[in-house]
Order: sequence, then structure tokens, then C-alpha cells
Amino acid sequence: MVTCTAMSGPGPLAEPGSPEAELAARIDRGRLPAHVAIIMDGNGRWAKQRGRPRVEGHRAGVAAVRDTVESAAQLHLGHLTLYAFSVENWKRPRAEVWTLMNLLKDYLRRELQTLVDNDIRFEPIGRWRELDPSVVSALERAVDATRDCRGMRFNIALNYSGRCEIVDACRRIVGDWAAGRRVDIDEETLAASLYTAGQPEVDLLIRTSGELRVSNFLLWQIAYAEIWLTPVLWPDFRRRHLLEGILAFQGRERRFGGVGPAAAESIDPSSAVDA
Ligand code: FPP
Repeated sequence: MVTCTAMSGPGPLAEPGSPEAELAARIDRGRLPAHVAIIMDGNGRWAKQRGRPRVEGHRAGVAAVRDTVESAAQLHLGHLTLYAFSVENWKRPRAEVWTLMNLLKDYLRRELQTLVDNDIRFEPIGRWRELDPSVVSALERAVDATRDCRGMRFNIALNYSGRCEIVDACRRIVGDWAAGRRVDIDEETLAASLYTAGQPEVDLLIRTSGELRVSNFLLWQIAYAEIWLTPVLWPDFRRRHLLEGILAFQGRERRFGGVGPAAAESIDPSSAVDA
């Protein structure tokens, strides 16, 4: 049986002298994004560029998943969410969906020990219990095996839709009311009813393949996320790209609807204008 032990923990992030080590050295470890979410896109184009079937792009994408998850844990990110299969992805050919599900099961079978060794707590989010029973049991096994891991939280979005998540949260709140628990209807209650309850909002949203869409991903949680887009197709995404995204994030000024400190200092209170 695979379980977390006190010995578990991620290894070093980069080989000394490597290009990744140079990038890693520039990262301010005190200002890491609390939650990084990634829309993994471009598998089909990656395969097409090589004259291969689309599913080969998904197969190659698994190596990028492996590298990204391990890198994020070694960087000591708190939360990582990968968008693996949306509610809308059921529109794809059956054979492609079947391949994606098999790749997921295969990934869990091969990587579970590595997740544990890196002290990673695995958590599917979405309507994943509606997937094929063989996928559900593989997911449950991974959840059970990593339940006591205390390092990075790794969410995988499966049969996921941001709108469905908000609908499910509303249903949960209505269920509470019906059961006599009269919770306040406010942002805090809604956030606590999402699949990501208790986790920080997304600080950094990464999308690969140069596309400029949010695609129904973590709609509530990305309200103030910084977005970093890269033309790199998902199967080519590696540790150095994650580090580049985090460096870009650390170079941004986050204002959350306010003004930056420099602008705030330069405002003369007597300059307020009556409406
Ligand atoms: C988007 O590329 C990618 C997906 C819909 C699936 C992502 C799946 C993987 C990375 C592999 C399996 C995952 C795990 C967790 C083991 P696309 O097919 O839309 O690419 P395109 O826009 O170029 O057609």
C-alpha cells in the first residue's frame, strides 16, 4: 500500500549550473504565488505538427504533467491546479476521450509513489465521480494514499466546469438551508462551498499554446489572478517554463482594484474633486 511517511519530501529543484538553476535563483521564495492554475493546451497541434494523431499529443503531454507537478512541489508551491478534462471535452471523439481516461489511470498507477515521495496531496475537483468507475476508483486510491501528505496540494480538474462548480456550490448552500443551517449568503460562504474550499484563490493562471481564453476554468477563484500566456505547446512545457511564469508573476504590480503604492503616495488629499 502506498502512503505518506515522515520521510516523504521533494528533492532539489535544479541541478547546480543548469539553466533552470539560474532561473530558480532569481525567484523570490518569500513571494511565491499561493496557488498556480494551468490550462494545458496545444496537445492536438503538437501532434499535428509532427503528422501524428491527436492522441499522441495527449500521450506526450503526460511527461509535461509529471515534470510540472514535481517542479512545483520542489519549488514548495502550496497549491497547483491542472485542467485535465472539462465538461465540454465530452464533445470530442469517443476514442480521444477514452485515451485521455486511460492516460490518466496510467499516470496515477505509475506516479502515485512519486506523488507520495514528494509529499504531494492529490485531489480531483469537478464532477469526477460521474466518470467511468475504473477512473473513479483510480482517483480514490490516489486520494487515499496521499491523504496524510502535508506538502503541495495538487488539484486535477476532471469533468470540470467553472459554471457547474458555482451551481454545485449554490446547491450545497440551499441544502444547508433546507437542513436548517441558515448560513449567510455572502462571498465567504460561496467560496467555502466550492470544490476548492479552504484553498487560496488563484494568484497565477498559466495557459499554454498562445490561446487567449479562460475556458470556464476556476471562474470564481481567478477573479484577481495574474495571467501568463506562453506560446509553448503543452507537451513541450517543462520546469523552466513554470519558473519563467513565476518570475513574470513576481514582476507584476498587483493592485486588486486599488492603486499602486507609488500612485497612492502621489495623491494630494486636497485635490479631491466634488462630483
Ligand atoms: C488540450 O489540448 C488538452 C487537453 C484537453 C487534455 C490534457 C491532457 C493531458 C495533458 C494528458 C493526460 C493528463 C493527465 C493528468 C495524465 P488540445 O487537445 O485542446 O490541443 P489543441 O488545442 O492543439 O487541439
